[in-house]
Amino acid sequence: MTDYMIDKTAIRQQMRKRRSSLPAFRQHLASFALLRRILLHVSAIHRADRISFYLAQDGEIDLLPLMLHCFRQGRRCFLPVLGTMDDQKLNFAEWVPGMAMVKNRFGIPEPSVHTHQLSSAADMNLVFMPLVAFDDCGNRLGMGGGYYDRTLAAYCTPEIKHQNRFQHNGRCPRLVATAHDIQHVPELTRESWDVIPDITITPGRVIRPRCFSISF
Ligand SMILES: Nc1ncnc2c1ncn2[C@@H]1O[C@H](COP(=O)(O)OP(=O)(O)OP(=O)(O)O)[C@@H](O)[C@H]1O
Ligand SMILES: [Mg+2]
Repeated sequence: MTDYMIDKTAIRQQMRKRRSSLPAFRQHLASFALLRRILLHVSAIHRADRISFYLAQDGEIDLLPLMLHCFRQGRRCFLPVLGTMDDQKLNFAEWVPGMAMVKNRFGIPEPSVHTHQLSSAADMNLVFMPLVAFDDCGNRLGMGGGYYDRTLAAYCTPEIKHQNRFQHNGRCPRLVATAHDIQHVPELTRESWDVIPDITITPGRVIRPRCFSISF
């Protein structure tokens, strides 16, 4: 293992512990603060009609209030569904309140749907990505499975985004990484396969790549 891989493991351990130890009332306040921040700063959410959320695990910031808000606004809301062990990618299943859910191999609830009801990342207008740590340049450290990176690799590398810059129907969804402020670290190494979010947003920060950051 390289030093950075050891670092990544240590950062993940530390940050997961940190976010899991947030008391319930802080989690709740953070979730509503983030909802307001997203409605203000992520303009794409007002025109996206297919949006992928996630169900918070392990102390991740909870997007459920935002998902319910979007659902009531008539947006189609989706949740990630794990692919097979062979392809290790995510598909997306439409969620409606009260629908049947089933736990995946990591114990995370997913909509219980048939394979033919699954959509791909290219069908989404906006994808919310949870993370374990982020830095001021918009680098994202996830749980380490590489699921978001692998899923988005075909649509969202900087080269593909550059080629599609004049197309309004490019197939890379708007990528919005969400986190608690305490998940900030000074610097993360960007791996060649990392897909960089268009925006990283916390209750207290909005970070767009190219190292431009606004603090509140
Ligand atoms: N496009 C890809 N093709 C094949 N393997 C990939 C791809 N992207 C990432 N991986 C593999 O996934 C592993 C984990 O990647 P990484 O550490 O970036 O995960 P992560 O971004 O923290 O996880 P996640 O995206 O699930 O939150 C790496 O070892 C990498 O080799
Ligand atoms: Mg990654």
